[in-house]
Amino acid sequence: MAKAGVGLLGIGNIGKEVFAYLKSSNNAQVTRVARRRINAPAPAAIKKLVTRRAETVIADPSVDIVVELTGDGKRGAQYMLDAIDQGQHVVTANKEAIAVRWRDIMSLARKRGVSVGFEATVGGGMPVVRAMQRHNAADDIQSFAGILNGTCNFILGRMKEYVVRHMDDPNIQKRSLPLEDALAEAQKLGYAEPDPTMDINGFDTKFKVAILANLAFDSYFDPNDIYCEGIWDQNQRILASDFYFLHHQRYLGGKYALKLVGVAERTGRRPTLRVHPALIETDGPLADLAAVEGSFNGLTVEGRRLGTQFIKGLGAGPKPTTISVASDIHEIAAAVLSSRGTGCHAGPPVPAARRAGSPGNVDRVQTRGFIRSVSPDVKGVYAKKLDILARHKVNVQSVVNVKEFVYGRDRYMPDYIEIDPAPDGAVREVLKAFRRLRGVRDPMYFRILEL
Ligand SMILES: NC(=O)c1ccc[n+]([C@@H]2O[C@H](COP(=O)([O-])OP(=O)(O)OC[C@H]3O[C@@H](n4cnc5c(N)ncnc54)[C@H](OP(=O)(O)O)[C@@H]3O)[C@@H](O)[C@H]2O)c1
Repeated sequence: MAKAGVGLLGIGNIGKEVFAYLKSSNNAQVTRVARRRINAPAPAAIKKLVTRRAETVIADPSVDIVVELTGDGKRGAQYMLDAIDQGQHVVTANKEAIAVRWRDIMSLARKRGVSVGFEATVGGGMPVVRAMQRHNAADDIQSFAGILNGTCNFILGRMKEYVVRHMDDPNIQKRSLPLEDALAEAQKLGYAEPDPTMDINGFDTKFKVAILANLAFDSYFDPNDIYCEGIWDQNQRILASDFYFLHHQRYLGGKYALKLVGVAERTGRRPTLRVHPALIETDGPLADLAAVEGSFNGLTVEGRRLGTQFIKGLGAGPKPTTISVASDIHEIAAAVLSSRGTGCHAGPPVPAARRAGSPGNVDRVQTRGFIRSVSPDVKGVYAKKLDILARHKVNVQSVVNVKEFVYGRDRYMPDYIEIDPAPDGAVREVLKAFRRLRGVRDPMYFRILEL
């Protein structure tokens, strides 16, 4: 039986797995491969197809489907545009390229009548892209919230495990796992990239939120317009004491799970889009999401007619990602084969590029939660913090010192201020003012996730 020709751009973690998978495919076969280091050791079956130039693969007449797996946001997008322009179908796992160049890629693909498969850009092996596309076709999506980065979820999970395991140790501060050690462990186990910046600063989740929001709200959102905080970026980082405060019976006793979330909410005319660490009630309406552990991903979608749906699955890694890449390849290959000779291709639908949409202003969203900061044991520092909160009209419910985490000669100690619902922008102004206070370190806002 004839097979559709696949040109692989990139033969790294994912490319290798896709190559192996397609060996047993009954409707697609790899006919060309591009990589930068053509002399790198590789099986003979790959070596005989390899070239250094992606352009050579795109121009090869044996290639019906270009599968872009380079991981290069800018070049990868250009290769896809070149392939589409020549009438080739494309499949990719490159979330940055799809999120940033959505409009160009989708409008050119519609113009040229070719398919774009990007299931692997969000949620690894979870079929969330098609689910969102199909759901939106028949319902009005009101909101979604997802744990979309397995690396961050793994790191947060390891930090929590350590603290919970040593909870009653009087030396808990020394026994807990700092963020950098949890990250090193994730890298050793292959869950985190050698350069994990995009994961921990939230950008990876931001690209995925942009893609899901484009599908859910029929607009194109620029990822740069999405509000984004990570678990570790220039302004803030998660501390081991956060897990002690969240999980020790003396404090919050496990009421909330701490996760990095991507959230979209249709509140006013325009949906608000945001990425940040959040507290999810373990016994509340989002309990399924709170229970997503390790390198898993989870997504809750709220439709006006259908109500709540929840999808959970393996969010990263070569095998799950390959399943999504291969499902796109198979679907497109079937359409290529059935249209051969007829000239009329009926592949999976390409989403409309739509008009650019700007997300709603996150400053005005009412949020509540806990403000953490670390202060020396000197007189007057709490009064100053409370004064700042009052000036920004942010009401305080309670203040808790986590005494088990005292350190240094000045007896630095984290405290957690619980606040009533307030405009998110006002709370962020409070944090900025805390950062200017002498001796006060690490202010961070833990919002309670409510949809
Ligand atoms: N790894 C995961 O778990 C995962 C999960 C979901 C999505 N993804 C996405 O999947 C994509 C691939 O990731 P990966 O982990 O497989 O990356 P990777 O291991 O770094 O492999 C990248 C491959 O692309 C080749 N390459 C890079 N730039 C190129 C260029 N300009 N022209 C030709 N070849 C080029 C590299 O060549 P050399 O071999 O010569 O270096 C390598 O073979 C990325 O978009 C990533 O975000 C990955």
